[in-house]
Amino acid sequence: MLKIITVLGARPQFIKAAAVSRIINTSYLGLIKEIIVHTGQHYDSNMSKIFFDELEIPNPNYNLAISGGSHGSMTGRMLEAIEKVLKDEKPDWLMVYGDTNSTLSAALAAVKLHIPVAHVEAGLRSFNKKMPEEINRIICDRISSLHLCPTDISVANLAAEGISDSVYNVGDVMYDSTLYFQNISKKKSRIFDELNLSVGSFILSTCHRAENTDDPKRLTEIISSLRELAKKIRVIFPLHPRTRKKIHAYGLSTDLVGVTVVDPLSFFDMLSLIQGAKLILTDSGGIQKEAFFCKVPCLTMRDESEWTETISLGVNVLVGADKSRIIENFKKLQSGSWVCNFTTMPYGKGNASRKVVQKLFNRK
Ligand code: UD1
Repeated sequence: MLKIITVLGARPQFIKAAAVSRIINTSYLGLIKEIIVHTGQHYDSNMSKIFFDELEIPNPNYNLAISGGSHGSMTGRMLEAIEKVLKDEKPDWLMVYGDTNSTLSAALAAVKLHIPVAHVEAGLRSFNKKMPEEINRIICDRISSLHLCPTDISVANLAAEGISDSVYNVGDVMYDSTLYFQNISKKKSRIFDELNLSVGSFILSTCHRAENTDDPKRLTEIISSLRELAKKIRVIFPLHPRTRKKIHAYGLSTDLVGVTVVDPLSFFDMLSLIQGAKLILTDSGGIQKEAFFCKVPCLTMRDESEWTETISLGVNVLVGADKSRIIENFKKLQSGSWVCNFTTMPYGKGNASRKVVQKLFNRK
């Protein structure tokens, strides 16, 4: 039996892994044994446990309870703890997702033990090395044995870095998760009633990137934009713990008057809101794409995006942390002069997770 260790730690990874674990536990039952290691990077119940429950991810076999501290400290502690698990379990593969500190530390631990690494969501680049995620991706791709890319552009990014062996465009596993849970979430979520919302009558906004939260000027501008928008339309703002801490530290809490601030939401609530929003305003990578999958226009509060396909298609616009660009684009949408066409699908056919598992299994 093929033994895979999957290391997870942060919210978006739970969503990606759910799709892949489901294939392993249905189509490959008895052929593949998956051992799940949760680093603990995200630990609040509404950032972690609720995702395991809703997405039906098997309980982690190991919970390392490592979170917080500086990037170096977090990554170092994870590296040490994951190495121990890998030595004990001796898997055939390590599988990691995306670009978090959990991804990097697991990949490093495995490669030093000569355990091959399969990187799901390989080849994404923002070309901004100040982002911790960009460093994590570049290093993880450099040391991986199997690169499971979501798009043609991510394959080309790797080729430009001289990585062309074991590179496959399998499509985007997040698309699989969206397709699978789109209707389930609408049926199960009560969030529209709880917040007294109707479809198309609100903006959904999220903000958690260090480049926005750790820069008082950018965060002040973003909060001011939300407040301005909230004078025209309901703005729902699920608050990430990092952002909550910074808003408090910069004394910006009262500036959120008029904005509907809520705790981080479950996956079902979030996916329901994304589907019903008039507009998404976010700095998240995953939400940009979920907006696209659900055919909702998106403004991205960053200066670059890894998901350049959505930008080229004109359904996602980079607005930085710039209030005037945010308001201007909202007005364009309201007046009907920003028309979105969602007919092209660059993220595969919704069978990415099956292809991921096939690639791993066929190389055993
Ligand atoms: C991390 C990832 C990012 C991903 C994001 C999803 C890195 C470098 N970044 O950023 O790629 O898009 O997760 O959310 O790995 N905290 C809590 N409760 C929690 C989790 C975190 O209070 O459940 C606190 C932490 O203690 C820390 C802050 O929130 O003070 C930020 O958490 P951290 O894990 O450092 O990074 P994220 O901003 O979530």
